[in-house]
Amino acid sequence: MLKSLPISFILFISVILFLLFPSQVFSAHPKCHSQDKKVLLEIKAALNNPYHLASWNPDDDDCCTWYCLDCDLVTGRVIALTIFSGNISGQIPPAVGDLPYLQNLEFRKLTNLTGQIPSAITKLVNLRELTLSYTNLSGPIPSFLSQLKNLTYLDLSFNDLTGSIPPSLSELPNLDAIHLDRNQLTGSIPDSFGYWTGKTPEIFLSHNNLTGAVPASFGRFQSMIDLSRNKLEGDPSFLFGKNRTSWYVDLSRNLFEFDVSKIEFSDNLTHLDLNHNRIFGSLPKGLTQLNLEFYNVSYNRLCGQIPQGGELQSFDLYSYFHNRCLCGAPLPPCN
Ligand SMILES: *[C@@H]1O[C@H](CO)[C@@H](O)[C@H](O)[C@H]1NC(C)=O
Ligand SMILES: *[C@@H]1O[C@H](CO)[C@@H](O)[C@H](O)[C@H]1NC(C)=O
Ligand SMILES: *[C@@H]1O[C@H](CO)[C@@H](O)[C@H](O)[C@H]1NC(C)=O
Ligand SMILES: *[C@@H]1O[C@H](CO)[C@@H](O)[C@H](O)[C@H]1NC(C)=O
Ligand SMILES: *[C@@H]1O[C@H](CO)[C@@H](O)[C@H](O)[C@H]1NC(C)=O
Ligand SMILES: *[C@@H]1O[C@H](CO)[C@@H](O)[C@H](O)[C@H]1NC(C)=O
Ligand SMILES: *[C@@H]1O[C@H](CO)[C@@H](O)[C@H](O)[C@H]1NC(C)=O
Ligand SMILES: *[C@@H]1O[C@H](CO)[C@@H](O)[C@H](O)[C@H]1NC(C)=O
Repeated sequence: MLKSLPISFILFISVILFLLFPSQVFSAHPKCHSQDKKVLLEIKAALNNPYHLASWNPDDDDCCTWYCLDCDLVTGRVIALTIFSGNISGQIPPAVGDLPYLQNLEFRKLTNLTGQIPSAITKLVNLRELTLSYTNLSGPIPSFLSQLKNLTYLDLSFNDLTGSIPPSLSELPNLDAIHLDRNQLTGSIPDSFGYWTGKTPEIFLSHNNLTGAVPASFGRFQSMIDLSRNKLEGDPSFLFGKNRTSWYVDLSRNLFEFDVSKIEFSDNLTHLDLNHNRIFGSLPKGLTQLNLEFYNVSYNRLCGQIPQGGELQSFDLYSYFHNRCLCGAPLPPCN
């Protein structure tokens, strides 16, 4: 039938169709799923219809064009909900758990967001990234987060979370990084954080009130770790070693107490912060072999000559000051 029509006629019809229905002809994505639209409007209502979500218009059929979300280009299902820096008051609506294709959920820089992390989040089995950060969320870090096996990124930093760290989080097999920093967490670091089910993620626990020693299970630890500004104690020198791949170790502002003299550092270590602890002994010569980019051993109980060479003299005296009897450049010469 089409074959018998002149090409010019087909072109003419196409142009008419395009002029009448431009969005249908050139639509880059299918319209959003009606069930997702319904859930989004529930979320908006639960947050008291904030101005930040003004684009979430019930009369607009295509919720994929709304702000703060992304749809899958093939299926039209909502795969990302990212609510960031708005004037939003209230709690995380449990309805977020009813967006079954969500891969990325983010509530960030919302200081009036309060309440606890809702268990409805565990319904999001496809979730890869969960960011609840810079909010006033309180209560514990729920152990049910360990059910989200697809998570590659978990960021709960800068909140008012309390209680201890649930050991079960180490059952998340695909995590690249876990940020629990800047909360009010107490208790000790779980043993299980030294042996993850899958790969070991980068671990950020700084600015909390964690106590106790670093578990011995970290004896094989090979990732990046920030334990700064807690109340941790004991001897975590097993975090170091010649064949470690960790490039970043921050133990600063704790109560750690150990002899640094015999420690062998890996060539991979480029960021070493030990300031404000009770570390004693003399700095080992091996430090001169490292390509250090950040280095701070100030406010400890170190003694003896600073090894000369490598990067060690590229740091100023403030990386070394307030020790018991360290001497040599960049500090004054030894007697
Ligand atoms: C938080 O809520 C209070 C009280 O309604 C309001 O005055 C303030 O502007 C809000 N802050 C932000 C960042 O939305
Ligand atoms: C946030 O919204 C509340 C009420 O909705 C309003 O009183 C307040 O001034 C707003 N704050 C900012 C920073 O816009
Ligand atoms: C949010 O937290 C800040 C600082 O932590 C606090 O000053 C503020 O009162 C809190 N706001 C609410 C609504 O809880
Ligand atoms: C992870 O996501 C994939 C597809 O996105 C899904 O097939 C799988 O069931 C999810 N894994 C779990 C443990 O839910
Ligand atoms: C740690 O606990 C002390 C009291 O023991 C408290 O004053 C401080 O605010 C807490 N710090 C954090 C980050 O929670
Ligand atoms: C590091 O090297 C020592 C011997 O030098 C070995 O016993 C140990 O198993 C190695 N550790 C890792 C994690 O490769
Ligand atoms: C340093 O890290 C690289 C990967 O970034 C790795 O291949 C290498 O084995 C590491 N070296 C040591 C001594 O761990
Ligand atoms: C090292 O830490 C001390 C104490 O916190 C600080 O005063 C100094 O500025 C730091 N040095 C560098 C290079 O960060």
